[in-house]
Amino acid sequence: MEREFIRNFSIIAHIDHGKSTLADQLLLQSGAITQRDFKDQMLDDLDIERDRGITVKAHAVALRYEYEGQTYELNLIDTPGHVDFHYEVSRSLAACEGALLLVDAFQGVQAQTVANAYAAIEVDLEIIPVVNKIDLPVTRVEEVLDEVETVLGLDATQALRVSAKTGVGVETVFKAIIERIPHPSGHSTSPLQALIFDSKYDSFRGVIIYIRLVEGQIAKGDKIRFMRTGGVQEVIEVGQFIPKLTSCESLGAGQVGYIITGVKKLEDVKVGDTVTHEHRKAEKALPGYREPKQMVFCGMYPIEATDFEKLRDELGKMSLNDASFSFQPETSDALGFGFRCGFLGMLHMEIIQQRLEHESNIDLIQTAPNVTYELLLRGGQVMMLDNPQDVPDAGSIEEFREPIAKVNFIVPTSNIGVLMQMCEERRGNYINTEYLGPDRAQVIYELPLAEIIYDMHDRLKSATRGYGTMDYEVTGYKTANLVKMDVLVKSVQVDALATIVHRDVAEKRGRGLVKRLKDEISKHQFEIPLQAAIGGKIIARETISALRKNVTAKCYGGDITRKRKLWAKQKEGKKRLKQFGQVEIPQKAFLSVLEAG
Ligand code: GTP
Repeated sequence: MEREFIRNFSIIAHIDHGKSTLADQLLLQSGAITQRDFKDQMLDDLDIERDRGITVKAHAVALRYEYEGQTYELNLIDTPGHVDFHYEVSRSLAACEGALLLVDAFQGVQAQTVANAYAAIEVDLEIIPVVNKIDLPVTRVEEVLDEVETVLGLDATQALRVSAKTGVGVETVFKAIIERIPHPSGHSTSPLQALIFDSKYDSFRGVIIYIRLVEGQIAKGDKIRFMRTGGVQEVIEVGQFIPKLTSCESLGAGQVGYIITGVKKLEDVKVGDTVTHEHRKAEKALPGYREPKQMVFCGMYPIEATDFEKLRDELGKMSLNDASFSFQPETSDALGFGFRCGFLGMLHMEIIQQRLEHESNIDLIQTAPNVTYELLLRGGQVMMLDNPQDVPDAGSIEEFREPIAKVNFIVPTSNIGVLMQMCEERRGNYINTEYLGPDRAQVIYELPLAEIIYDMHDRLKSATRGYGTMDYEVTGYKTANLVKMDVLVKSVQVDALATIVHRDVAEKRGRGLVKRLKDEISKHQFEIPLQAAIGGKIIARETISALRKNVTAKCYGGDITRKRKLWAKQKEGKKRLKQFGQVEIPQKAFLSVLEAG
């Protein structure tokens, strides 16, 4: 395919604004899939993924579209919508010349619309604003267009109006892609430079490497070199997703597709690396990506010590398909042998955790998540810390630094007050407010990441009755007056309950924590004192009194169904209990550590 007839684009949007629906509609209207296939595929998405078809949700689909008597190749490159995956958005965008910016006709510009639009502007893409869901009974199309202009500085007169659901206006999308997005600029005769923008492990074929050819050509049998990692491989297969994995003879400059080589492990392929020919090397590698940074860590421990190896296998499987997830063994006095796992953010953590629970049969105790800290030690060394248990002696710390994020909130103007209060309580630093219209505003704050990760999103949703949205980006580290807070259960320190807190709020947090622990830990045959301490000094204390009677004795008149329920509940709860000394501590107690207040 000649480059004049190729267009590479992404769809970017806030969550739920209709990205997948529009992508499906583009597939349908270009004839890439039929209505019937489409339904079938929707039914068993997961099986399809396993079955290596990877169609509707493919990361890069090549569509053929006839326009004014000419066939065009339109490569749709997928981007994830969530804040945890910012770096993946930027890397997908780097493989495109343009982007469709989808905005819901009622909800308007939201926090991730802004973040994604800026990411596209940064890499100089042609942005086509598309107002979606115009079929809704109530829309605010004109206001939404105003927001696109004021907040994003894009020309709203050029915006398209569509319904991805009904298909109305979708042909204008094809037209705009062809007429407004520039064709790629490389030459097929130049030395090969192909950008690796994604990779996936497939149990049948091994590692599938997604590439965007910037210069040159690549064909089956070519000997290639990964310019940054230095590996040399032979190309076993070249192809495109049309939308199923379809092999072809070669790919030329500007095209998007995949290669399969002898690479066996996902770790051996670096996303952002450049592929060139071993015998005709490009002079330099394409600009790569920033390494994804893991910002959130937690411990995962099998309840049964015998499950340790099984857990290691399961975590290994997870990391096969997700190079941004990491894990390494650690030990805790309280929990025994387990793993310290690193994630890009909270959503990423939840996804991995859910998959672990679904795909393996291991009962886990997960410790409260924490962010990565930076410590400047007295000797001048800088130490990164991802586990509160590893905080060195206070005397050896010169500076304790925590990650700071710039947070962009979009909220109804009537909620600005409560939002500000929420941010102030979390050590926020106000930056500014910009009104998007009479009813909505964008409020920017700088907040410690630790204050955001746990429940900020939920609190925002409940404070704004679901209307507020937020997006954040970690901007750097700042010195803060932080200390390690220990927890003692029956006078014994439980390392897995230790946290890092700000000195000013330590007492309050300590009191809140022991109180919550008191609620979470059931009564035993003896009294259990719970204490929070900083550097050996007790700052808060609660006591769980000793159990006097059998729990079921509380039930009136021998109501057997009630008793059964209670027993069943206790049994269920047992699965997630960890015996610590004489005291049983349930899973929930470990997570209660981070709740604010
Ligand atoms: P994420 O993948 O979660 O980021 O969402 P998305 O942006 O891909 O949104 P998706 O396509 O899943 O659509 C979200 C919801 O909006 C679904 O319930 C769709 O049916 C609905 N939707 C999408 N497009 C339209 C439209 O044009 N009109 C109407 N009425 N609903 C739509």
